[in-house]
Amino acid sequence: MNGNSIGKALVLTCFGESHGRCVGVVIDGCPAGLPISQEEIQVEMDKRRPSSTDVSTPRREEDTVEVLSGVYNNFTTGAPICMLIWNRDVDSRPYELAKDKPRPGHADYPAHVRYGGFNDFRGGGRFSGRITAAYVMAGAIAKKLLDTIGIEILAHTVQIRSVKLSKHVAYDYIRRNVYQNAVRCADPDVAEAMKEEILKASKEGDSVGGVVEGLVLNAPAGLGDPIFDTLDSDIAKAMFNIPAVKGVEFGAGFEAASIRGSQNNDQYALREGGIVTLSNNAGGVLGGISTGMPIAVRVAFKPTSSISKRQKTVDLERMKETEIELKGRHDPCIVPRAVPVVEACLALVLADHAMRAGEIPRVLEQIG
Ligand SMILES: Cc1cc2nc3c(=O)[nH]c(=O)nc-3n(C[C@H](O)[C@H](O)[C@H](O)COP(=O)(O)O)c2cc1C
Repeated sequence: MNGNSIGKALVLTCFGESHGRCVGVVIDGCPAGLPISQEEIQVEMDKRRPSSTDVSTPRREEDTVEVLSGVYNNFTTGAPICMLIWNRDVDSRPYELAKDKPRPGHADYPAHVRYGGFNDFRGGGRFSGRITAAYVMAGAIAKKLLDTIGIEILAHTVQIRSVKLSKHVAYDYIRRNVYQNAVRCADPDVAEAMKEEILKASKEGDSVGGVVEGLVLNAPAGLGDPIFDTLDSDIAKAMFNIPAVKGVEFGAGFEAASIRGSQNNDQYALREGGIVTLSNNAGGVLGGISTGMPIAVRVAFKPTSSISKRQKTVDLERMKETEIELKGRHDPCIVPRAVPVVEACLALVLADHAMRAGEIPRVLEQIG
């Protein structure tokens, strides 16, 4: 099973399964001298934990991060950083019972084919959303690295099914409000309508999807490398590494296909001695390189595939058509818990590219 690593200068390798012993990450390439405490990493991890409301899975995990290496006296040492969380609240029975019946919409069937039935299917195994805990741990380090050069990462829920955050919200509003409600939306009224949408689907044994917007603020112009290492392709890849992601767009995105060049072009101007664009339809990236404008990416999540409604499937052992009714514990909507994951993935890609561009020094002695 290859494909567990991402990044070039800052390399993340993740490991673990949903119902195995743990989920963790090794980060290679982090400069020495970065101040980081276990508490700071835990703050990020706690954003991803299921909230106590009905909008998330009933699986209750403490998700207390253990830092096993690479950090000494609250500073990175330059050595690989290994971190993990233990899986404790595990109930594999529903998965054992339905082992031969692949869940429609989940990875069960293609994974069974790819790994000849040897893959750990319990709780989705390696394909579980729980793997994203590893991205969030690593993202905490990446965010600290970005702090050293003034880059900030934000993310917020902008759509749940048909309920949209249609007005523009100020960055400060996002900073202050996102983690104040269960759906991670910056507008409390819209958040309430989104929550209703999730609860309605959940009561009917169903699920809903939505959209998360990720933002990178204060990124300098000039990050990214053509052709196969463009900043936007690396961000898109990182986003598609989040399970349940079905679409990624930057700036005007798909909408750009229906307007004219004169409307889509972001015209240049000088402001306070610096070059800016008067609009940001490019979403902060041109030619795969950051423009210095905010990087804006929208990530579409499908509705959770594991639903308790009866659905058609095939018994792989008997090769007979059958039906499945799921009993496991699932998120009725993935979006709220994916918000910190989108932040983490953005932070990892930006930190990697900032290091490649020499923006973050190999030893951060000046910060200590
Ligand atoms: C934070 C998070 C939580 C998730 N929780 C669930 C869940 O409870 N039930 C489920 O069926 N899928 C869940 N998923 C999505 C599945 O892991 C994903 O749909 C599956 O691996 C198939 O991959 P694909 O949808 O990208 O094709 C979650 C994803 C994330 C990011």
